[in-house]
Order: sequence, then C-alpha cells, then structure tokens
Amino acid sequence: MKILMVCLGNICRSPLAQGILEHKIKEHNLSWSVDSAGTASYHVGNQPDPRSIQKAADYKLDITNQRSRKVDLKDFDEFDLILAMDASNYNNLQNLSEDPTHRSKVKMILNYSYPGENRQVPDPYYDDGFENVYQLLDRACDKLIAKETNC
Ligand code: 4NP
Repeated sequence: MKILMVCLGNICRSPLAQGILEHKIKEHNLSWSVDSAGTASYHVGNQPDPRSIQKAADYKLDITNQRSRKVDLKDFDEFDLILAMDASNYNNLQNLSEDPTHRSKVKMILNYSYPGENRQVPDPYYDDGFENVYQLLDRACDKLIAKETNC
C-alpha cells in the first residue's frame, strides 16, 4: 500500500501525517510506504515548518529530512491512496485528474476516524493549533491501519 498525504503547503499538516504514519508502519511491520505533497508550490524544497518539526519531536518523531514538493499527476498512478487534509485540498486534487480511477483514490483523511462526516484537519499555519492537528492525525492513522489491515 502506497499512501500520499496532501495539504496546501506541504510544510505543516501533511509532513506530520507522513511522520506519524511512517512510525506506525514500522511499529506494525507493514510493507507500506508513505510520502507527502502540497497542492501549492509556495514552499517547494523547504523543510517542514519549525512548529511541525517541534510537535513531531514532542512525540519522538523526526521529520527534519522531509522537503516540500508539489503534487504531480504521476502521483495518481504511483499511489494507492491520496489523503486530503481538508475540503479545499480534496477539491484541488479532484480537479487535477478526470480519470475516475485516479479520483477514487482521493479521500478525506478524517473520514477514517469520523466516517462520512467529511471533517477537516484545520490549517494550523496562522493559528498554531499543532497539538490538535497531531492528535487528529494520530487517531486517523490508527483507524486507517485498522481498516486497511482488517484488524
Ligand atoms: P499546510 O499549511 O498546508 O498544512 O502545509 C500551510 C502552509 C503554508 C501556507 C498555508 C498553509 N501558506 O499560505 O503559505
């Protein structure tokens, strides 16, 4: 299973999601991989936001090797699941491809923890809600693993 985490800038939410899921993949000995990307290119090549790096470190995760990149059409072939943090990311992803197989890979990540509710991971860039983001993503990744491994 190859999973792509997607937010707007690929410096706050999706790098944390990648770090959290990477850790759980190791813990569960799964042969999965995870990457992250943004729908916008403002921060391409940059490290995650220092507040995301710090929040990850609070939970013993190191995300300093990550670099921001923009989502590419090739990602729709490469990945099995493309997980959007919010409705705007979801809509931008849907608009990138007209192929129904591609489009069906795009899901709202919090629908794993809140099925059918289309809840969003709030953008913490301006309001500093990184602990809340961490908790939402941690739970969603647990539910994702439970669902996809049938445990
Ligand atoms: P992210 O957060 O999408 O979670 O990486 C943001 C990062 C940068 C900006 C907005 C949101 N920005 O406007 O530069």
